Amino acid sequence: MYPFNRNRRLRQSEAIRSLVREHSLSPQDFLVPLFVVEGKAVKETIPSMPNYYRYSLDKLEEEIKTLWSLGLRAVLLFVKVDDTLKDNEGTEAINPKGLMQRAIQRVKEVCPDMLVMTDVALDPYSSFGHDGVVQNGKIVNDPTTVILAEMSVSHARAGADFVAPSDMMDGRVFAIRQALEEASFIDTGIMSYSAKYASGFYGPFRDALDSAPGFGDKKTYQMDFGNSQEALREVAADIDEGADIVMVKPGMACLDIVSQVAQNFHVPVAAYQVSGEYAMIKAAAEKGWLDHDQIMIESLTAFKRAGARIIASYFAKDVVKLLG
Ligand code: PBG
Repeated sequence: MYPFNRNRRLRQSEAIRSLVREHSLSPQDFLVPLFVVEGKAVKETIPSMPNYYRYSLDKLEEEIKTLWSLGLRAVLLFVKVDDTLKDNEGTEAINPKGLMQRAIQRVKEVCPDMLVMTDVALDPYSSFGHDGVVQNGKIVNDPTTVILAEMSVSHARAGADFVAPSDMMDGRVFAIRQALEEASFIDTGIMSYSAKYASGFYGPFRDALDSAPGFGDKKTYQMDFGNSQEALREVAADIDEGADIVMVKPGMACLDIVSQVAQNFHVPVAAYQVSGEYAMIKAAAEKGWLDHDQIMIESLTAFKRAGARIIASYFAKDVVKLLG
């Protein structure tokens, strides 16, 4: 009781504040998303994602070395696929010589201990820009999970440590786990995007991969942002089906969900600070309306405080540089 208890005693100096701080950031918290393109010596800017790039494989190699030297130990790979290779079934996704498969191999060659996670969904490969197969204007579930399972095995064969299904089809974790087991990839893990909302915050990412849906939206498979109980059902189902890590996405708009998932389940929880969150912070900082570094640290620390063990963020490199 006041005056014996004065909360401000623990806030008097940075020394005491850091001594009692419950949550802080370190390099091992981060998963670095990387965008890969065909070509040589390509490091392309993405207008809606300032200071973020698409890399050709040779440049990717350099970037991986840099990330490793900074203490970053896990990457999440995405590929931008040429339009001529896109079709409704995402056939290119299972090409053993496809860009994703070569990217995985390249990372493992230059940095065998870097943890490689791969995005599993059809959208970058789909002529319709949807995460699943389209039939009569609908995104069909079960034919899609068969392809996602094949895609996952193909990534595992190329050397991926974890596959990360981001498509939100029902039963895809089960289909993927079963296919990995059958192909003897018993140690290949699954980080499932379990609670992924149909969100406006993915816009800049779709610019980066040229993967915006050609018709309609993703609301028949990604979750309605008015719901939270549904997120817990999704997470429970994915754990049941064999997910090793569950993810919530987007991040800042869903910290309540991150918190509920972390409290209700005993598996590592990941959260994704998505492209739109990154773009908002960058844009406000460019205008001088917010302090870039302060907002970066504050927003990411909030993920930890909410209960995320792992954070996927486009700020990963900047933040570890700042942490020193
Ligand atoms: C693909 C995928 C998306 C993101 C990650 N994987 C886009 C989408 O679902 O439309 C978004 C990531 C971001 O915005 O940073 N299924």
